[in-house]
Amino acid sequence: MAEPLSVSEKRFLKALAGAPVDRPPFWIMRQAGRYLPEYRAVRATTRDFVSFCLDSEKACAVTLQPIERFGMDAAILFSDILIVPHGLGQGVRFVEGEGPRLDPVTTETGIAALSMEGFHDRVGAVYETVRLLSKRLPGDVALIGFAGAPWTVATYMVAGQGTPEQKPARLWAYRDPDGFQALIDLITEATIDYLAAQVEAGAEALQIFDTWAGSLPETELTRWVFEPIARIRAALRARFPHVPVIGFAKGIGPALPQLAPRTGVEAVGIDSAVPLSFVRDEVQPGAVVQGNLDPLLVVAGGKAMHDRVETILKTLGPDRFVFNLGHGVVPETPPEHVAALSRQIREWRP
Ligand code: CP3
Repeated sequence: MAEPLSVSEKRFLKALAGAPVDRPPFWIMRQAGRYLPEYRAVRATTRDFVSFCLDSEKACAVTLQPIERFGMDAAILFSDILIVPHGLGQGVRFVEGEGPRLDPVTTETGIAALSMEGFHDRVGAVYETVRLLSKRLPGDVALIGFAGAPWTVATYMVAGQGTPEQKPARLWAYRDPDGFQALIDLITEATIDYLAAQVEAGAEALQIFDTWAGSLPETELTRWVFEPIARIRAALRARFPHVPVIGFAKGIGPALPQLAPRTGVEAVGIDSAVPLSFVRDEVQPGAVVQGNLDPLLVVAGGKAMHDRVETILKTLGPDRFVFNLGHGVVPETPPEHVAALSRQIREWRP
């Protein structure tokens, strides 16, 4: 392993700090995953997905796979956003071909059955994964820790599964906002401690995934998305002033320019539906931006992918920009297309 570069020399951290870079850094959401045969080989050795996430050696191994194959500038800890409900004592399992299943929390009694007692014991393997990674990553690669945002995590905790329009959580929030607030508060407190422990173990930047932020009207967007993320950001800043946070609030379109000023995050993830000129003119002046190639263009590959990548790099690069997809890479993606994408970005110069 190469000597670690000082933090300020890692391209990904430089870009997040707003410092000039030779070319934009890149990583890919869900970069460790089923599109890679080497991931599937390790994954096949543990049946249960929660147990897989909590096996530090295996989680570390699959985190390193895309870095070794494609040379990303950052590695994201391999885990899942539903490890937080697991830590709080909620039953969480993943059904092959269907997705996550949780014992739904639908009442204040249900919330009262969850607690922070035993949380760090239940999720401690994640911190161990971070410690292993900070020893084993190449010296120029930054390590990203993450958690789901309280709203998105709540949508799964309440429905007990993925729901196309997040109806159960939205209805609870409309019918009984104070009751629902208690759930958001609990997740918020857990997330602060969980991310703080990841930083103490070696995470150099953090991403908060609010995949379902786009299902909320503006009053609720403020209360359930901006306010909890602002609390998490402020609590982390008090303890770790130097660790940047990326907020990924998918689907909020015209509200994106408000995300950084209203929450304090340094960087804003951009989904594929947001026009690049809007990102450049309205979001980038107030935050570093990250995104936003359509994951299906990496399935298609070829000229369509390369032309779009060039446009994104030219419009948003080189500074205050991290290249990424607009959402996670999908399982049917040919790894050769990710290799071609990686080459294009590594060789690109302004
Ligand atoms: O980006 C990375 O490489 C880090 C690992 C990571 C995973 N999930 C691994 C995973 C991260 C950051 C996540 C985040 C996550 N998990 C989100 C938010 C971001 C997003 O993609 O919208 C959400 C909503 C989840 C919840 C989740 N996890 C669902 C709905 C599913 C099932 C659907 C599916 O794709 O299978 C998962 C499972 C999951 N998480 C897998 C992986 C690699 C696939 C499970 C397997 O390998 O068997």
